[in-house]
Amino acid sequence: MRRSSFLKASGGAMLVMALPRLSAPAAASDVVDYTLTAGPLRYSPVPGLNFPGLAFNGTIPGPLLRIVHGQRLRATFINKSGQGSTIHWHGMILPNKMDGADGVTQAPVRDGGSFVYEFAPDPPGTRWYHDHVSDGLLRGLFGMIVVEDPRDQRADAEFALVFHDVPKMATVAPAMMGVGKAPMTDPPGSPELIQMAPDDKMGDEVAFTAHCINGAAYPNTTRLAVKVGQHVRLRVLNANPTQTRYVRLAGHRLIVTHSDGNPLPRPVEVDALRVGVAERYDAWFEVSAPGSWLLQGLSSDPLAYEQAAIVHTEGMEDAPPMASSQSLDGVDYFTYEKAGGTGGSLSPLRGARYDFTLDDGKYGSSRWTINGKTYPHTPKIYVHRNDIVNVKFLNKTDMDHPMHLHGHVFEVTEIDGVALTSPLAKDTSLVRANGGTLRWRFRADSPAGRWLLHCHNAIHMMDGMMTLVEYV
Ligand code: C2O
Ligand code: CU
Repeated sequence: MRRSSFLKASGGAMLVMALPRLSAPAAASDVVDYTLTAGPLRYSPVPGLNFPGLAFNGTIPGPLLRIVHGQRLRATFINKSGQGSTIHWHGMILPNKMDGADGVTQAPVRDGGSFVYEFAPDPPGTRWYHDHVSDGLLRGLFGMIVVEDPRDQRADAEFALVFHDVPKMATVAPAMMGVGKAPMTDPPGSPELIQMAPDDKMGDEVAFTAHCINGAAYPNTTRLAVKVGQHVRLRVLNANPTQTRYVRLAGHRLIVTHSDGNPLPRPVEVDALRVGVAERYDAWFEVSAPGSWLLQGLSSDPLAYEQAAIVHTEGMEDAPPMASSQSLDGVDYFTYEKAGGTGGSLSPLRGARYDFTLDDGKYGSSRWTINGKTYPHTPKIYVHRNDIVNVKFLNKTDMDHPMHLHGHVFEVTEIDGVALTSPLAKDTSLVRANGGTLRWRFRADSPAGRWLLHCHNAIHMMDGMMTLVEYV
């Protein structure tokens, strides 16, 4: 049996949808076809803004792709963006030549060209796709892909939410040259502010001019209609290219079940999510009374209110929504330690060990380095099939680094010297600024090839904080 489904570009509304009934487990021969066409888009999520965006199928973010685990995805990429581009399938274990890593697994698809990505998406969960060549990630070439897990608990309603922000493109080049000056916008009470050292610059690299959820800014964001008694699943992606985002639903606790699409050892209940660049979280809440509440991305940016959507029960669509303050003071937010648990002892290290020091080189922050080198001169990890590899990061810079590995799911085993009782399965994890350490372990059991390992902060990645895991 072969099935086709084509997506229409129909604005942000299609991105927020109830979970379709899961059909019988897919036959392995099922193929789901999507066409993704990249092209320029004049993007105006707020009045007066006319952003020179790039979009898949005419929307920022690109269409929500859904597939059932076991089906094959065939995505025809047509590049009309005006520049070379590839699509990277973030969080997927897939044949190396389908990974979309520019210059590593394929040459960029030229403007006017096309490429067919075909693979069986794995593992299941909330994943995403994005340009992996130049500034496409900053300009809008990203979207979410949900690989439904037929074994998952059924939600009464589900919302797929991409948190993203519109950069001031004029701040990108200075950021890359290490002379960027943008305001720091982490919320009061956030670890980003608490962990600052006295000589930190109180600045960010890139400035943002609008703050969106699924393509729109408040009050134009899509309303999320729920019913009393429902168990609602949120799938949240932080597609901001440089900033961690805190996400909170007023009046509710959130039960976090998945990190980067992978099940947590046990669900964790929190007030707010902490979502690093490129991370995803699945979080559930229960609607216990009628009402209207804001789901918000928290920050100290004066325009932070734009990144909000109303969640309401029937008949409450016009009630003023309950909101949260933009501060994290006293807020119980998600941490890796809460999810993995601490208090155990470190299991003895098996396998190879790599120590990576993340630093910002000699010339301010125009070079973001691993062991003093920028890509492609950084030290590589060479693996044989089934090797166990331990990577320890030490962050000597004054910014967190969301480190990402292509084509694998790794386990976070230790944070700042403290072992996790249950390691966390992830594909992207934040290494804390100012001396923070993080340890990963993974098994080299993915398809052979060359897999990028890099900081997902778009500036740091372009400025060299990247290396490769290579099967030999
Ligand atoms: Cu989502 Cu190489 O990245
Ligand atoms: Cu970084």
